[in-house]
Amino acid sequence: MAQHLLSLADFSGAELAALIDRALVLKRESRDGVRHRDLEGRTVALIFEKPSTRTRVSFEAAMYGLGGQVIYLSSRDTQLARNEPLKDMARVMDRYVDGLVVRTFGQEIVDELARYSGVPVINALTDLHHPCQVLSDLMTVIEHKGPLDKLKVAWVGDGNNMANSWIQAAARLGFALNLACPEGYEPVPGILREARAQADRPINLVHDPLEAVAEADVVNTDVWASMGQEDEQIHRLQVFRPYQINDRLLAAADPNAVVLHCLPAHRDEEISEKVLEGPQSVVWDQSENKMHMHKAVLAAFIGPKA
Ligand code: CP
Ligand code: NVA
Repeated sequence: MAQHLLSLADFSGAELAALIDRALVLKRESRDGVRHRDLEGRTVALIFEKPSTRTRVSFEAAMYGLGGQVIYLSSRDTQLARNEPLKDMARVMDRYVDGLVVRTFGQEIVDELARYSGVPVINALTDLHHPCQVLSDLMTVIEHKGPLDKLKVAWVGDGNNMANSWIQAAARLGFALNLACPEGYEPVPGILREARAQADRPINLVHDPLEAVAEADVVNTDVWASMGQEDEQIHRLQVFRPYQINDRLLAAADPNAVVLHCLPAHRDEEISEKVLEGPQSVVWDQSENKMHMHKAVLAAFIGPKA
């Protein structure tokens, strides 16, 4: 398996499925009171240049839950803000800690840290990908809908970091994926092209949200303006209006479809309050599963001390 978790494309379907299976076991075991200490004596640094509630806390809880420790560094706390080279940061940090969990802007930042770091670098969201989120979302889908290869997933809204990671997951795990994005807000073309070339089932990109959700088993969305796009918020509200997940749109999906949103949600923007709080929404399970998935990821990448 790759040393770092930078994007889902770096892993085989079997490797991704093993991480999801492990997280499902860890969730069951945690309900039964089973405790693991895989990461006793190990420390990770969380280097977060963007805000986070779920990812930060679930990684911290996961690390402590496995007997490890965490050092949290916001962008105010490091010399990166004063332009210390990433390659220097990586080679210093790897003398102190056993792994780096990084939330930042460009994918090239995690790529560069990984190039120079002797310890694993885990992508906790960049502008391009949110791989750990999509792994825990897939876990949630399996819990509620069963094996992925039978399913049709719809992505409605921005062709953003989440969409890119869903596309890579579809190519590896064999579910059908329909994306509906406004013109000009599509996922990265190269990611789509590469995924389609490798996928067993269709990965469709359309502009009509009704077409994308038709008979879908999973209906998935995210904010219309991601972190770093705050200046575009007002314009995006206009462009994305027809892409709201509401009762009307959900009626076109399979009647037993589940609704995902990685959160934070903007109620009555990308998703109606009624759908978010309604019976088809699985967003709270989705949030919980981040912690179980992060335990699986940390144990797999940081591992027990030799
Ligand atoms: N879903 C997610 O990544 O949430 P946070 O931004 O709160 O970490
Ligand atoms: N696309 C969103 C995801 C937030 C978890 C963002 O990047 O802000």
